[in-house]
Amino acid sequence: TRGPHSVKGKSFVVRRATLEDIPKVIVINRVTLPENYPEWFWREHLEKWGDAFFVAEVDGKVVGYVMSRVEYGAPNIAKGTLIKKGHIVSIAVLEGYRRRGIGAALMKAAIEALRDKYGCKEVYLEVRVSNEPAIRLYEKLGFQKVRVLPMYYLDGEDAYLMAMEL
Ligand code: ACO
Repeated sequence: TRGPHSVKGKSFVVRRATLEDIPKVIVINRVTLPENYPEWFWREHLEKWGDAFFVAEVDGKVVGYVMSRVEYGAPNIAKGTLIKKGHIVSIAVLEGYRRRGIGAALMKAAIEALRDKYGCKEVYLEVRVSNEPAIRLYEKLGFQKVRVLPMYYLDGEDAYLMAMEL
């Protein structure tokens, strides 16, 4: 665990996800985002990159998650040779628990693990161009918009590819 964090008397804990968390994470993902994945996909990320898969708990209840993966490829920001890149695949916090620092704490935990445990030189993600709360959060953490990915989502919306050097 990395907590307890506390904001205005509302405290939460960020800890590494376990297999038992997967069903809860899937529910949070389904109620918060249109991008949903089969159970094996969540399990695969936990098995392969579990040190960068975190959940947030409030009073023992899982209220948020961040899931990441590690890829090898061309950098999005720096010029040069192939690098290890951390990819934030999905992050969400249940609606009643937002704006108390949980999203930022989850992101920081994932970024730190991608850098220190996996040796990533960059972290990147995709986000809907209309998703102001998430874009604000990422910019606050140091991500920059690198390019637009046209029609990235199934409903036709564009994504920003956002990235940060580590
Ligand atoms: N409006 C403006 N700025 C916001 C908002 C908002 N609604 N929400 C967060 N921010 C910014 C603010 O700068 C905020 O700092 P402040 O509260 O001091 O002003 C900062 O982000 C940190 O906010 P947190 O409280 O840490 O974030 P939160 O716990 O609310 O989680 C999240 C943010 C994860 C984006 C949440 O809104 C959410 O779950 N949304 C639905 C799911 C989603 O969109 N996920 C991201 C999809 S993209 C991807 O997964 C890679």
